[in-house]
Amino acid sequence: MNKVSFSFGAAFGKSALDSCALRAKYEAAALEAQRWINETSFDTEGHGWMALPDCSTAQVTETAEWLRGYDSVIQVGIGGSALGNLMLNQALLDGFYNETEAKPKFYLADNPDPDKTRSIWERVKGGRVALVGVSKSGSTAETMTQFLWYRDEMLKKGQSDKDILVITDPEKGIFRAFAKDSDCRVMELPASVGGRYSVLCPAGLVTAAALGIDAAALLRGAAAMRELVSKETDFAKNPAMRLAALHMMHADERRPMSVLMPYSSKMAYFAEWYAQLWAESLGKQGLGTTPVRALGSIDQHSQVQLYTEGPDDKFFTLISLKDHGPEAVVPNIDHEALKPLEYLNGQGIGAMLNLEAKSTAAAIVKSGHPLMWIELEKLDEETVGALVFFYEYLTALTGRMMGINPFDQPGVEQGKKYTYGLMGRAGYEKDAEEVGEWFGKIAADKVEAF
Ligand code: PA5
Repeated sequence: MNKVSFSFGAAFGKSALDSCALRAKYEAAALEAQRWINETSFDTEGHGWMALPDCSTAQVTETAEWLRGYDSVIQVGIGGSALGNLMLNQALLDGFYNETEAKPKFYLADNPDPDKTRSIWERVKGGRVALVGVSKSGSTAETMTQFLWYRDEMLKKGQSDKDILVITDPEKGIFRAFAKDSDCRVMELPASVGGRYSVLCPAGLVTAAALGIDAAALLRGAAAMRELVSKETDFAKNPAMRLAALHMMHADERRPMSVLMPYSSKMAYFAEWYAQLWAESLGKQGLGTTPVRALGSIDQHSQVQLYTEGPDDKFFTLISLKDHGPEAVVPNIDHEALKPLEYLNGQGIGAMLNLEAKSTAAAIVKSGHPLMWIELEKLDEETVGALVFFYEYLTALTGRMMGINPFDQPGVEQGKKYTYGLMGRAGYEKDAEEVGEWFGKIAADKVEAF
């Protein structure tokens, strides 16, 4: 049984191209990009994600077992060192995991907001806490400030560096230096794997496994998807090639937005994770399309008016989930005033969500806009692993076809350097000066409003 399917029938909207013309225009570039991904050594910087499905999960399992001995786990990390975890947990755990009996409780400290930092600590400080620091560079200020703050609180209450795990580059960075010189545990975020492509390595898998997610099954799903997208050379049968070509075509035809709208509360973070992967990988040299996260059915009551009757500037992907798990069935109406709702007697809430996904897709297509339909059998580890790998491959393929490097992030690095400068880090004095100049320009025309 297929667990993930892709329907392309309405993916052209008002484009003058059809699937034959799409193939004629983009097939050669797609095949070249596929060869580039497949044939570049997976040890090359940025390319390591291709090898992750083959990695052993033994160390992940052993470390997860250790984490399960704690009452709570706080993970500090941001961007690619956080979104993958949030995405996996939401997709595969109880929606209110921390309110169940399960242990350890899990908190992800990503945004450096003191209110959040402190309120996480208030919840965990009564028990034994493990601190997991995830940072490829081992120096990102948001992660480091929170790491130092939580570590200090832990030491003050009698815990030690033995209660800390860092997941970082094998050689470089402050986390690596700390690991060499302290009692903390350390795991590798492979040198060749970039942050936003790291969810299938220890950065994403360790805390997921500690909470009960099957890391090996995630990798099995990823490996199965890799088999298809990296080996299938028939353009018509390779969904990654076709979708990459469609994204290129819609960008060329002035549809600069790519909307991802899953119909499942458990996939809201999948859209967030995708948004980072797509934006940071492809937004370069004046190119790229803007990822837009939406959630069905909530955004039917927020965005769909714009999606149907607004400008023709978006390419839509709707994700529908066949099986939402145990159904919540509407009971038979037993009150006179509620009789008009009798048509809902015996209907499932999950079934309704799926009908709404179809209705929205139909409305978008009727209004002339291009739409891709992805259907998942259910949200299990294999399916999520497969979908994660599909989007990583799609992103890399699209980037190569666009002629940009999908694995670097010079625009993010600039912001990081400015922050280092403003926070007084040695070697970044010029960056601090530059921020001052730019900010002077911003503040030069100001209206005091209150
Ligand atoms: O994808 C990326 O490289 C970035 O989004 C990083 O994940 C993010 O900036 C955090 O960096 P680091 O893991 O080095 O702390």
